[in-house]
Amino acid sequence: MDLQETRAVVTGGSRGIGEAICLELAGRGAEVAIADIDEDGMADTVDRIESETDSTAEWYYLDLTDPALVDERTDQILDDLGGVEILVNNSGIMGPTAPLEDVTVDEWEETMDVNVRGQFLMCRALLPTMKEAGFGRIVNIASITGKNPLYNRAPYAVSKMGVIGLTRTLADEVGEHDVNVNAICPGSVAGPRIERVFEGQAEARDVPYEQVVEEAEAGSPRGELVQPEDVAQLAGFLCSPDADRITGQDINVSAGRVMF
Ligand SMILES: NC(=O)c1ccc[n+]([C@@H]2O[C@H](COP(=O)([O-])OP(=O)(O)OC[C@H]3O[C@@H](n4cnc5c(N)ncnc54)[C@H](O)[C@@H]3O)[C@@H](O)[C@H]2O)c1
Repeated sequence: MDLQETRAVVTGGSRGIGEAICLELAGRGAEVAIADIDEDGMADTVDRIESETDSTAEWYYLDLTDPALVDERTDQILDDLGGVEILVNNSGIMGPTAPLEDVTVDEWEETMDVNVRGQFLMCRALLPTMKEAGFGRIVNIASITGKNPLYNRAPYAVSKMGVIGLTRTLADEVGEHDVNVNAICPGSVAGPRIERVFEGQAEARDVPYEQVVEEAEAGSPRGELVQPEDVAQLAGFLCSPDADRITGQDINVSAGRVMF
């Protein structure tokens, strides 16, 4: 249990990749605070942590589009936990699937607000504690779409490219305080969210849903989708002492679909 006596905040831990990350960190011994807008989903994740691991967890309603609420809730988390060593910025939304000329300003801004500004706000709120303690581990969930274009998904792609920019810049800024900042770039991860993505792509391209799934699977050397646990295990490793000299990186978990 290499994360024993650490305290972790995970955004978007109510389902999908975030839920798997919460379970992975708790399994490694971390006390987990889940921050999300889906209260029922968070309560389920807390139940799973408490029944499947020896660790404890709490959940906090936190809407990343509300900067004042981010500050309020992170203050509350710091009070409740007495400190935070680990932050996993996992929450993200798909944004619109449409040609750029049909994207509205509201859709653009909402995608940026959750996917990039939300990560900035969480880092800004928790960094002073990490710097003061002289230790911190931040993992930002980006995407292989932070490196490659994704047809008809400009806002999402720009937001994930922004996450990689944030990760590199912040890693450079805080390395001297023993705060490591890395990004994980998942490929297509099995689960309900990717089904919605594939449905949107099928509709936009006017091709059958099955064709989009087959293309996604065939697009990787391993011919398969990624599992949420694959991403979670890398997040756990990046927060562990085994990764002390790894910072500023954007690491693909894509079944080999992207190789840079
Ligand atoms: N699923 C994939 O194929 C895939 C691929 C690459 C990257 N990613 C990234 O991984 C992360 C998790 O993806 P997922 O597939 O588990 O998605 P998901 O939609 O299942 O979960 C997203 C989480 O973010 C939360 N969230 C949404 N809006 C929020 C807000 N305003 N404030 C706080 N939380 C909010 C949701 O409630 C949910 O818990 C995202 O950043 C996503 O972009 C996913």
